[in-house]
Amino acid sequence: MEYQAKQLFAKHGVATTLGVVVETAEAAKAAAEEMGGVTVIKAQVKAGGRGKAGGVKLAKTADEAYLHASNILGMEIKGLTVNRVLVTPATPPEEEYYFSFLLDRSNRQYLCIASVEGGVEIEEVAKTNPDAVKQIGIDPGKGVDETKAREIATEAKFPEPVFEQAVELIQALYKTFVEEDATLVEVNPLARLAGDKLEALDGKVSLDDNASEVRHPDHEEFEIREETDPLEAKAKDLGLNYVKLDGQVGIIGNGAGLVMSTLDVVAYAGAAHGGVKPANFLDIGGGANAQVMANGLDVILNDDQVKAVFVNVFGGITACDEVAKGIVGALDILGDEATKPLVVRLDGNNVDLGRQILNERNHPLVTVVETMDGGADKAAELANA
Ligand SMILES: Nc1ncnc2c1ncn2[C@@H]1O[C@H](COP(=O)(O)OP(=O)(O)OP(=O)(O)O)[C@@H](O)[C@H]1O
Ligand SMILES: [Mg+2]
Repeated sequence: MEYQAKQLFAKHGVATTLGVVVETAEAAKAAAEEMGGVTVIKAQVKAGGRGKAGGVKLAKTADEAYLHASNILGMEIKGLTVNRVLVTPATPPEEEYYFSFLLDRSNRQYLCIASVEGGVEIEEVAKTNPDAVKQIGIDPGKGVDETKAREIATEAKFPEPVFEQAVELIQALYKTFVEEDATLVEVNPLARLAGDKLEALDGKVSLDDNASEVRHPDHEEFEIREETDPLEAKAKDLGLNYVKLDGQVGIIGNGAGLVMSTLDVVAYAGAAHGGVKPANFLDIGGGANAQVMANGLDVILNDDQVKAVFVNVFGGITACDEVAKGIVGALDILGDEATKPLVVRLDGNNVDLGRQILNERNHPLVTVVETMDGGADKAAELANA
């Protein structure tokens, strides 16, 4: 969120004003009073276009700050509820620029995007006036030193009165990007304020989750539990690789590649069954035991949208009999809580034993199928029933 991005900016020397983040209109009023009344009240949600949605308002007095905050709190922006607002001194920009660093996976480098026509949606500027949006590749091995920062500032055409500040800011922003293991740092608007002062008036940072455990345990503080999908939060606590999607067929598989393919075949099969779609991504990884399977089923079965589950496992290192024991064990652990049909396709290592275990248990909710396509079709059919 913006207020968190600004904390990271400040830590690395990017010129910005932190402001005060609050959760009630009363607190917004108190914060505005401290700032002398003339403030901007800004919705804090992980979505762009807040201003257009009415989530950024100028207040001339503390009472107006109260009014704006009470209107903005609880508002929905792109499906997200606003639970907090940032109160920050109003500093009207004389000019608005756009600046970002991001990870450019396809070109295996970093990319800097800069434009002196910022403030509004950069996607629009890129369409209507592509020359105004500069894209500059950054070699990650070389990074951005002062020379490179000058090159960028020149290319972006930062005007003379703020040029030197831009050179400083570009280096500080690059430091934020690299040292925080971010995949995006974006400033829009980067504003030229009265007295030719350059400042990040807005901020957006995406942090790389892969860095969070070992390199950046400090990033934990940026996670806001209630802003995370409750099922995803639960899955995270259980150590599962789970992503909630918007369909009706719960998916469990082993190995990211197989799970991705399973999503595809289920979506394909779903077209013939009322358009049902996959409800999630869940990779239980290798060597899954009964507990891991139970945890996975527990998360998926608690998704109200889920109508049927497709378990698709290819036994490589994982033996199918272990997976079958896992499923049977999971159903026993869940007992009456398990109410939705399960389609199970096992193949590979020890498949005969695996199928035998499932057939012997003969659980009324479980259908054992031979092939992946057959399983996808059956699961889609059951989800649509
Ligand atoms: N502190 C401030 N003082 C005066 N004006 C501001 C201030 N902060 C923002 N603004 C004005 O409000 C506009 C919108 O603010 P901001 O960039 O934070 O939201 P947004 O661009 O609508 O949201 P998003 O970045 O999520 O798309 C800015 O372009 C700027 O003109
Ligand atoms: Mg913005």
